[in-house]
Amino acid sequence: MSINITDFGCLADGKKVEKYLITNSNGVSVSVVTYGATLVSINAPDKNGNVADILVGFDKLEDMVEKTDYQGVVVGPYANRIGNSAFEIDGVKYNLVPNENVTTCLHSCGEFNTAVWDAEVTGENSVSFRYVSADGINGFPGTLDVAVKYTLTDENELKLEYDAVSDKKTVINLTNHAYFNLGGYNSGSILDHLIRINADKYTPVDKISIPTGEIATVENTPFDLLKATRVGDHIDDDFEQLVFTGGYDHNFCINDYDGSMKLAAEVTDPDSGRKLEVYTDLPGIQFYAGNFLKGVEGKNNFPMNKRSGFCLETQYYPDSPNQPAFPSCVFDAGEKYHTETIFKFL
Ligand code: BGC
Repeated sequence: MSINITDFGCLADGKKVEKYLITNSNGVSVSVVTYGATLVSINAPDKNGNVADILVGFDKLEDMVEKTDYQGVVVGPYANRIGNSAFEIDGVKYNLVPNENVTTCLHSCGEFNTAVWDAEVTGENSVSFRYVSADGINGFPGTLDVAVKYTLTDENELKLEYDAVSDKKTVINLTNHAYFNLGGYNSGSILDHLIRINADKYTPVDKISIPTGEIATVENTPFDLLKATRVGDHIDDDFEQLVFTGGYDHNFCINDYDGSMKLAAEVTDPDSGRKLEVYTDLPGIQFYAGNFLKGVEGKNNFPMNKRSGFCLETQYYPDSPNQPAFPSCVFDAGEKYHTETIFKFL
Protein backbone atom coordinates (compact mmCIF):
# COMPACT_ATOMS: atom_id res chain seq x y z
CA MET A 1 0.00 0.00 0.00
CA SER A 2 1.25 3.47 -0.75
CA ILE A 3 0.05 7.00 -1.32
CA ASN A 4 1.96 9.36 -3.55
CA ILE A 5 1.18 13.08 -3.78
CA THR A 6 2.17 15.14 -6.83
CA ASP A 7 1.34 18.52 -8.35
CA PHE A 8 -1.42 18.50 -10.96
CA GLY A 9 -1.05 22.10 -12.08
CA CYS A 10 -2.64 25.42 -11.35
CA LEU A 11 -6.02 26.95 -12.17
CA ALA A 12 -6.29 30.34 -13.91
CA ASP A 13 -6.82 31.99 -10.49
CA GLY A 14 -3.55 30.52 -9.24
CA LYS A 15 -5.10 27.79 -7.06
CA LYS A 16 -2.87 24.73 -6.90
CA VAL A 17 -4.26 21.28 -7.64
CA GLU A 18 -2.74 18.07 -6.29
CA LYS A 19 -2.99 14.46 -7.34
CA TYR A 20 -3.18 11.58 -4.84
CA LEU A 21 -2.19 8.17 -6.15
CA ILE A 22 -3.17 5.16 -4.03
CA THR A 23 -1.60 1.82 -4.94
CA ASN A 24 -2.54 -1.49 -3.34
CA SER A 25 -0.51 -4.69 -2.92
CA ASN A 26 -1.89 -6.18 -6.15
CA GLY A 27 -0.61 -3.29 -8.23
CA VAL A 28 -4.08 -1.82 -8.66
CA SER A 29 -3.93 1.96 -8.42
CA VAL A 30 -6.36 4.84 -8.30
CA SER A 31 -5.62 8.53 -8.61
CA VAL A 32 -7.79 11.43 -7.50
CA VAL A 33 -7.16 15.16 -7.89
CA THR A 34 -8.31 17.96 -5.60
CA TYR A 35 -10.09 19.74 -8.50
CA GLY A 36 -13.62 18.34 -8.18
CA ALA A 37 -12.31 15.48 -6.00
CA THR A 38 -12.07 13.89 -9.44
CA LEU A 39 -11.05 10.31 -10.15
CA VAL A 40 -8.40 10.56 -12.82
CA SER A 41 -7.20 6.99 -13.32
CA ILE A 42 -7.94 3.43 -12.28
CA ASN A 43 -5.30 0.92 -13.30
CA ALA A 44 -6.46 -2.67 -13.11
CA PRO A 45 -5.14 -5.98 -14.53
CA ASP A 46 -6.96 -8.03 -17.17
CA LYS A 47 -7.22 -11.84 -17.28
CA ASN A 48 -3.57 -12.09 -18.40
CA GLY A 49 -2.30 -9.68 -15.77
CA ASN A 50 -1.93 -6.78 -18.21
CA VAL A 51 -2.66 -3.51 -16.46
CA ALA A 52 -4.67 -0.77 -18.22
CA ASP A 53 -6.32 2.47 -17.19
CA ILE A 54 -10.07 1.71 -17.34
CA LEU A 55 -11.26 5.23 -16.61
CA VAL A 56 -12.35 7.34 -19.58
CA GLY A 57 -11.51 10.98 -18.91
CA PHE A 58 -8.76 13.54 -18.87
CA ASP A 59 -5.11 13.51 -17.83
CA LYS A 60 -4.62 17.30 -17.92
CA LEU A 61 -6.12 19.91 -15.62
CA GLU A 62 -6.84 22.40 -18.41
CA ASP A 63 -8.85 19.75 -20.29
CA MET A 64 -10.88 19.00 -17.16
CA VAL A 65 -11.65 22.69 -16.80
CA GLU A 66 -12.51 23.34 -20.43
CA LYS A 67 -14.01 20.12 -21.75
CA THR A 68 -15.59 18.24 -18.89
CA ASP A 69 -18.69 16.17 -19.33
CA TYR A 70 -18.41 15.30 -15.62
CA GLN A 71 -15.68 12.66 -16.21
CA GLY A 72 -14.77 11.14 -12.83
CA VAL A 73 -16.04 14.05 -10.77
CA VAL A 74 -18.01 14.24 -7.55
CA VAL A 75 -21.40 15.75 -8.34
CA GLY A 76 -23.32 17.77 -5.81
CA PRO A 77 -25.16 19.05 -3.91
CA TYR A 78 -27.74 17.37 -6.14
CA ALA A 79 -26.64 14.83 -8.77
CA ASN A 80 -28.67 14.48 -11.98
CA ARG A 81 -31.73 16.54 -12.87
CA ILE A 82 -34.20 18.72 -11.02
CA GLY A 83 -37.18 19.52 -13.26
CA ASN A 84 -38.15 23.18 -13.75
CA SER A 85 -35.08 24.04 -11.64
CA ALA A 86 -37.19 24.40 -8.52
CA PHE A 87 -38.44 22.51 -5.48
CA GLU A 88 -40.26 23.24 -2.26
CA ILE A 89 -39.39 22.40 1.32
CA ASP A 90 -41.96 23.13 4.03
CA GLY A 91 -43.85 25.48 1.71
CA VAL A 92 -40.79 27.51 0.76
CA LYS A 93 -39.93 27.48 -2.93
CA TYR A 94 -36.27 27.36 -3.95
CA ASN A 95 -35.42 28.43 -7.49
CA LEU A 96 -32.26 26.99 -8.95
CA VAL A 97 -30.19 28.10 -11.91
CA PRO A 98 -31.17 26.14 -15.04
CA ASN A 99 -28.32 24.86 -17.22
CA GLU A 100 -30.04 22.46 -19.62
CA ASN A 101 -33.02 22.77 -22.00
CA VAL A 102 -33.75 26.24 -20.61
CA THR A 103 -35.65 24.74 -17.66
CA THR A 104 -33.63 21.94 -16.06
CA CYS A 105 -30.92 22.07 -13.40
CA LEU A 106 -28.45 19.27 -14.27
CA HIS A 107 -25.72 18.19 -11.84
CA SER A 108 -26.18 21.38 -9.80
CA CYS A 109 -24.58 23.42 -12.61
CA GLY A 110 -21.26 21.73 -11.90
CA GLU A 111 -20.66 23.41 -8.56
CA PHE A 112 -18.82 20.60 -6.76
CA ASN A 113 -16.75 19.49 -9.73
CA THR A 114 -15.28 22.91 -10.37
CA ALA A 115 -14.20 23.51 -6.77
CA VAL A 116 -10.76 22.74 -5.39
CA TRP A 117 -11.27 20.46 -2.39
CA ASP A 118 -9.01 20.20 0.66
CA ALA A 119 -7.33 16.82 0.83
CA GLU A 120 -6.03 14.84 3.77
CA VAL A 121 -4.40 11.43 3.87
CA THR A 122 -6.58 9.53 6.33
CA GLY A 123 -4.87 6.14 6.35
CA GLU A 124 -2.30 4.04 4.51
CA ASN A 125 -4.84 3.49 1.71
CA SER A 126 -7.30 6.37 2.00
CA VAL A 127 -7.58 10.05 1.18
CA SER A 128 -10.41 12.32 2.28
CA PHE A 129 -11.56 15.39 0.34
CA ARG A 130 -13.52 18.22 1.94
CA TYR A 131 -15.49 21.12 0.48
CA VAL A 132 -17.84 23.64 2.06
CA SER A 133 -20.59 24.87 -0.24
CA ALA A 134 -21.88 28.32 0.69
CA ASP A 135 -25.59 28.96 1.36
CA GLY A 136 -27.52 29.84 -1.80
CA ILE A 137 -25.07 28.76 -4.52
CA ASN A 138 -27.16 28.18 -7.66
CA GLY A 139 -30.21 28.51 -5.39
CA PHE A 140 -29.60 25.53 -3.06
CA PRO A 141 -30.38 26.34 0.57
CA GLY A 142 -27.86 25.86 3.37
CA THR A 143 -24.14 25.88 3.98
CA LEU A 144 -23.18 22.31 3.18
CA ASP A 145 -20.06 20.76 4.66
CA VAL A 146 -19.08 17.76 2.52
CA ALA A 147 -16.41 15.08 2.77
CA VAL A 148 -15.71 12.31 0.28
CA LYS A 149 -13.26 9.63 1.34
CA TYR A 150 -11.65 7.35 -1.23
CA THR A 151 -10.20 4.06 0.06
CA LEU A 152 -8.52 1.39 -2.06
CA THR A 153 -8.34 -2.02 -0.39
CA ASP A 154 -6.26 -5.10 -1.14
CA GLU A 155 -9.51 -6.75 -2.21
CA ASN A 156 -9.42 -4.33 -5.19
CA GLU A 157 -12.34 -2.37 -3.82
CA LEU A 158 -12.50 1.37 -4.32
CA LYS A 159 -14.76 2.58 -1.55
CA LEU A 160 -16.31 6.06 -1.65
CA GLU A 161 -17.76 7.37 1.60
CA TYR A 162 -19.84 10.53 1.31
CA ASP A 163 -20.57 12.60 4.43
CA ALA A 164 -22.42 15.89 4.49
CA VAL A 165 -24.25 18.14 6.89
CA SER A 166 -26.12 21.38 6.22
CA ASP A 167 -27.15 24.25 8.50
CA LYS A 168 -30.56 24.41 6.74
CA LYS A 169 -33.08 21.78 5.74
CA THR A 170 -32.11 20.88 2.18
CA VAL A 171 -31.83 18.25 -0.54
CA ILE A 172 -28.62 16.21 -0.83
CA ASN A 173 -27.67 13.69 -3.51
CA LEU A 174 -23.97 13.04 -4.08
CA THR A 175 -22.41 10.74 -6.64
CA ASN A 176 -19.30 10.08 -8.65
CA HIS A 177 -19.58 10.42 -12.40
CA ALA A 178 -16.80 8.02 -13.50
CA TYR A 179 -16.93 6.77 -17.07
CA PHE A 180 -15.54 3.23 -17.31
CA ASN A 181 -14.33 1.17 -20.23
CA LEU A 182 -13.19 -2.19 -18.90
CA GLY A 183 -11.07 -2.78 -22.00
CA GLY A 184 -9.10 0.39 -21.24
CA TYR A 185 -9.94 4.03 -21.91
CA ASN A 186 -8.60 3.74 -25.47
CA SER A 187 -10.17 0.41 -26.41
CA GLY A 188 -13.24 1.68 -28.26
CA SER A 189 -16.88 0.90 -27.73
CA ILE A 190 -18.52 -0.48 -24.59
CA LEU A 191 -21.33 -2.11 -26.58
CA ASP A 192 -19.83 -5.61 -26.14
CA HIS A 193 -19.67 -5.28 -22.35
CA LEU A 194 -22.18 -7.42 -20.46
CA ILE A 195 -24.23 -5.60 -17.85
CA ARG A 196 -26.45 -6.84 -15.08
CA ILE A 197 -28.48 -4.43 -12.94
CA ASN A 198 -30.22 -5.69 -9.86
CA ALA A 199 -33.44 -3.76 -10.48
CA ASP A 200 -36.97 -4.97 -11.24
CA LYS A 201 -38.04 -1.34 -11.72
CA TYR A 202 -36.80 1.89 -13.26
CA THR A 203 -37.98 5.47 -13.49
CA PRO A 204 -39.18 6.45 -17.00
CA VAL A 205 -38.57 10.02 -18.14
CA ASP A 206 -40.15 12.59 -20.43
CA LYS A 207 -38.56 13.97 -23.60
CA ILE A 208 -36.14 16.13 -21.60
CA SER A 209 -35.11 13.36 -19.22
CA ILE A 210 -37.21 14.43 -16.22
CA PRO A 211 -38.81 11.44 -14.46
CA THR A 212 -42.55 11.20 -15.05
CA GLY A 213 -42.96 10.02 -11.44
CA GLU A 214 -43.86 6.50 -12.51
CA ILE A 215 -41.91 3.57 -11.10
CA ALA A 216 -42.19 1.09 -13.96
CA THR A 217 -41.42 -2.58 -14.29
CA VAL A 218 -38.50 -3.59 -16.50
CA GLU A 219 -40.34 -6.75 -17.55
CA ASN A 220 -40.53 -7.23 -21.31
CA THR A 221 -38.58 -4.04 -21.97
CA PRO A 222 -34.94 -3.30 -22.96
CA PHE A 223 -34.53 -2.25 -19.31
CA ASP A 224 -34.68 -5.84 -18.12
CA LEU A 225 -30.99 -6.19 -17.33
CA LEU A 226 -31.58 -8.63 -14.47
CA LYS A 227 -29.50 -11.20 -16.34
CA ALA A 228 -26.15 -10.31 -17.89
CA THR A 229 -26.97 -8.63 -21.21
CA ARG A 230 -24.73 -7.23 -23.93
CA VAL A 231 -25.05 -3.43 -23.68
CA GLY A 232 -25.47 -3.18 -27.46
CA ASP A 233 -28.25 -5.76 -27.72
CA HIS A 234 -31.19 -3.38 -27.20
CA ILE A 235 -29.65 0.08 -26.80
CA ASP A 236 -30.96 1.24 -30.18
CA ASP A 237 -34.36 -0.47 -29.98
CA ASP A 238 -37.32 1.56 -31.15
CA PHE A 239 -38.57 1.84 -27.58
CA GLU A 240 -39.84 5.29 -26.60
CA GLN A 241 -37.75 5.58 -23.42
CA LEU A 242 -34.56 4.80 -25.34
CA VAL A 243 -35.52 7.10 -28.20
CA PHE A 244 -36.05 10.00 -25.74
CA THR A 245 -32.55 9.63 -24.29
CA GLY A 246 -30.61 8.28 -27.28
CA GLY A 247 -29.76 5.03 -25.47
CA TYR A 248 -29.59 3.95 -21.84
CA ASP A 249 -29.58 7.01 -19.57
CA HIS A 250 -31.97 6.02 -16.81
CA ASN A 251 -32.28 5.53 -13.11
CA PHE A 252 -32.78 1.94 -11.98
CA CYS A 253 -34.45 1.26 -8.62
CA ILE A 254 -32.16 -1.12 -6.78
CA ASN A 255 -34.07 -4.15 -5.47
CA ASP A 256 -34.78 -4.42 -1.75
CA TYR A 257 -33.49 -0.93 -0.89
CA ASP A 258 -33.23 -0.65 2.89
CA GLY A 259 -30.19 1.58 3.40
CA SER A 260 -27.75 -1.35 3.66
CA MET A 261 -25.07 -2.14 1.08
CA LYS A 262 -26.38 -4.10 -1.91
CA LEU A 263 -24.83 -5.33 -5.13
CA ALA A 264 -26.47 -2.91 -7.55
CA ALA A 265 -24.78 -3.72 -10.85
CA GLU A 266 -22.01 -5.75 -12.44
CA VAL A 267 -20.32 -5.31 -15.78
CA THR A 268 -17.96 -7.70 -17.58
CA ASP A 269 -15.80 -7.13 -20.60
CA PRO A 270 -15.53 -10.54 -22.30
CA ASP A 271 -12.41 -9.48 -24.23
CA SER A 272 -10.20 -8.39 -21.37
CA GLY A 273 -11.95 -10.50 -18.74
CA ARG A 274 -12.17 -7.49 -16.42
CA LYS A 275 -15.24 -7.21 -14.25
CA LEU A 276 -16.66 -4.35 -12.21
CA GLU A 277 -19.13 -4.77 -9.36
CA VAL A 278 -20.94 -1.77 -7.90
CA TYR A 279 -22.30 -1.85 -4.36
CA THR A 280 -24.24 0.93 -2.68
CA ASP A 281 -26.57 1.73 0.20
CA LEU A 282 -28.48 4.23 -1.99
CA PRO A 283 -31.85 3.49 -3.66
CA GLY A 284 -30.92 4.19 -7.29
CA ILE A 285 -28.28 3.82 -9.94
CA GLN A 286 -28.06 5.77 -13.20
CA PHE A 287 -26.90 3.64 -16.09
CA TYR A 288 -25.65 6.13 -18.66
CA ALA A 289 -24.10 4.54 -21.75
CA GLY A 290 -22.10 7.57 -22.85
CA ASN A 291 -24.61 8.40 -25.58
CA PHE A 292 -23.69 12.09 -25.61
CA LEU A 293 -19.91 11.66 -25.80
CA LYS A 294 -18.93 13.42 -28.98
CA GLY A 295 -15.30 12.60 -29.67
CA VAL A 296 -13.76 15.25 -27.42
CA GLU A 297 -10.08 14.38 -26.90
CA GLY A 298 -9.23 13.01 -23.48
CA LYS A 299 -6.23 11.10 -22.12
CA ASN A 300 -3.27 11.08 -24.51
CA ASN A 301 -5.52 12.99 -26.94
CA PHE A 302 -7.60 9.86 -27.51
CA PRO A 303 -11.14 10.81 -28.59
CA MET A 304 -13.97 10.00 -26.20
CA ASN A 305 -16.46 8.81 -28.78
CA LYS A 306 -20.14 8.05 -28.33
CA ARG A 307 -20.50 4.97 -26.10
CA SER A 308 -16.79 4.60 -25.43
CA GLY A 309 -17.48 4.76 -21.69
CA PHE A 310 -20.36 3.97 -19.35
CA CYS A 311 -21.37 5.47 -16.01
CA LEU A 312 -23.02 3.77 -13.05
CA GLU A 313 -23.93 6.70 -10.81
CA THR A 314 -25.29 5.64 -7.44
CA GLN A 315 -27.91 8.13 -6.31
CA TYR A 316 -31.31 9.17 -5.01
CA TYR A 317 -33.66 9.07 -7.97
CA PRO A 318 -33.42 12.07 -10.31
CA ASP A 319 -35.87 14.90 -9.52
CA SER A 320 -36.69 13.33 -6.13
CA PRO A 321 -37.24 16.79 -4.57
CA ASN A 322 -40.37 17.03 -6.77
CA GLN A 323 -41.48 13.40 -6.68
CA PRO A 324 -43.32 12.42 -3.50
CA ALA A 325 -43.35 8.71 -4.44
CA PHE A 326 -39.53 8.55 -4.62
CA PRO A 327 -37.31 7.90 -1.56
CA SER A 328 -36.73 11.24 0.16
CA CYS A 329 -33.44 13.09 -0.30
CA VAL A 330 -34.43 15.88 2.14
CA PHE A 331 -32.18 16.28 5.19
CA ASP A 332 -32.88 18.42 8.23
CA ALA A 333 -30.48 21.08 9.41
CA GLY A 334 -27.77 19.23 11.32
CA GLU A 335 -28.90 15.80 10.11
CA LYS A 336 -26.01 13.68 8.94
CA TYR A 337 -25.94 12.44 5.35
CA HIS A 338 -23.76 9.35 5.01
CA THR A 339 -23.70 6.99 2.06
CA GLU A 340 -21.20 4.52 0.63
CA THR A 341 -20.47 3.14 -2.80
CA ILE A 342 -17.95 0.45 -3.68
CA PHE A 343 -16.48 -0.17 -7.11
CA LYS A 344 -14.87 -3.61 -7.01
CA PHE A 345 -12.49 -4.67 -9.76
CA LEU A 346 -12.19 -8.39 -10.49
C1 BGC B 1 -26.93 12.13 -17.24
C2 BGC B 1 -26.76 12.29 -18.73
C3 BGC B 1 -25.75 13.37 -19.00
C4 BGC B 1 -24.46 12.99 -18.30
C5 BGC B 1 -23.38 14.04 -18.45
C6 BGC B 1 -25.61 11.77 -16.64
O1 BGC B 1 -25.74 11.68 -15.26
O2 BGC B 1 -27.90 11.18 -16.91
O3 BGC B 1 -27.99 12.61 -19.34
O4 BGC B 1 -25.52 13.53 -20.36
O5 BGC B 1 -24.70 12.81 -16.93
O6 BGC B 1 -23.84 15.27 -18.08
